[in-house]
Order: sequence, then C-alpha cells, then structure tokens
Amino acid sequence: MATNITWHHGHITRSERERQLNQHGVTLWFTGLSGAGKSTIATALERELVLQHKKSLYVLDGDNIRHGLNKDLGFGPGDRQENIRRIGEVCNLFTDAGIIVLAAFVSPYREDRDKVRELLEAAKNDGDNTAVDASSSKRKNFIEIYVEADVSVCEQRDPKGLYKKARSGEIKSFTGVSADAPFEAPENAELVLNTGSVSVEDCVAQLVKYLQDAGYLQ
Ligand code: PPS
Repeated sequence: MATNITWHHGHITRSERERQLNQHGVTLWFTGLSGAGKSTIATALERELVLQHKKSLYVLDGDNIRHGLNKDLGFGPGDRQENIRRIGEVCNLFTDAGIIVLAAFVSPYREDRDKVRELLEAAKNDGDNTAVDASSSKRKNFIEIYVEADVSVCEQRDPKGLYKKARSGEIKSFTGVSADAPFEAPENAELVLNTGSVSVEDCVAQLVKYLQDAGYLQ
C-alpha cells in the first residue's frame, strides 16, 4: 500500500445516490465452470431488469474484462486471484454508486470469492450509516449464485471450443479439466442454478423472484 494517501469523503451518501436511482446497489456474483451458462444467464437477467424493471445495471464478464482492465493477467493461480481481487474492487465501486452489478467470472477459488463478499459487506457499514433504514440493513451487497453444470455437460456444449483445446493440451490449466486448475464449488451460495436441468428462462425467473423477495425490486 502506498504511503501518504488519505481517504477523501464526498458530500453525497450512497443512500442519496440510491434514492435518486430508485434502486439499491448490489453485486450478483455468478460463479461456475466455463460453459456453465454464467454470461448467458447474466445477459438474459440484464434484459429483464433493464426493460421490465427499469433498473440501472452493468454486466462484468470474464472474457470482456480480460480484454482491458485485466489484459495483463493469465490463468495461473496468482493471476486468477488478482483477477478476482480487481473485479471485486470494481464491483464495490459500482455497488457504492447504487448500480446493480452482474459479475460473471469462473472465480474458481472459494477464498477469493469470500474475500469479495467480505469487501462488499464491510462497505455496507461505512460512511452513511445515518441514512440506513431498517430494511436496508438486512439487504446484502453481495449475492453469490452458483451456476452449476457438470464438466461433462459443459464439455458437450463447448461453445468456444475451449474444452477440445484443453483436452488436446493446446490450453493448459483449464478449469475443471486440468489437474492444476480445480473448481471449488460454493458452500453457501444464496442461489444454485443447475443449467443442466433448468432452462435459462426459469433461471432468470428464479433470480427475479429472489430479488423481489429480498427487497431489490419494489
Ligand atoms: S477466472 O478463473 O475467474 O480468473 O476466469 P475468468 O476471468 O472468468 O475468465 C474465464 C474465461 O476465459 C476463457 N479461458 C479460460 N477459462 C478457464 N481456464 C482457462 N485456462 C481459460 N483460458 C481461457 C474462457 O472463455 C472463460 O470464459 P467463460 O465465459 O467462463 O467460458
């Protein structure tokens, strides 16, 4: 950490920003194997929340972020950890801005996902406590969604031909295939969506219901 830096507080609270947007900032974190359906579900949910519920949101996606912000990172354990750390910080900023973030990353390590959860939940208690009402103290900043599908199902889909390349050895350290690239399934995800047996439409319906019940869509 650099020295001689001081946090600068603004004059508008998060609650004021949220009131203006008429919504609550939150990060929905989609984790799962490549090809499990994270981006497909996130973009389908994006349409539903923007068009039907008039919400302001933004989708952050592994492939896209790796074209820009994280283009210096590869797929070794250290780089994946740094990838998720940076994304977590970005999610924290968007969430503080009152935006709904749909973050779709393989994010294979439980510890890295838990650190993002800790970062976002800790931020809830910062700064503008005076403006926090009883219902908002119950709302979460971070909601983990496990997009579950067996490797065999993902491999059958293989939308980008990556499993084929991983099996042939052209791609090393491929999550769920290579011995050095395990996927650690969430143990306490708020929602589990099995895309081997549930359609994209039904996954979106489950997510919308969850958000409604949890107070994000009034
Ligand atoms: S991670 O593990 O969270 O850092 O990965 P992420 O940033 O989400 O990027 C995953 C996308 O990169 C492509 N890709 C790989 N995935 C996993 N392992 C290896 N070795 C790999 N190489 C490239 C792949 O297209 C992933 O996108 P999705 O949408 O998940 O298929």
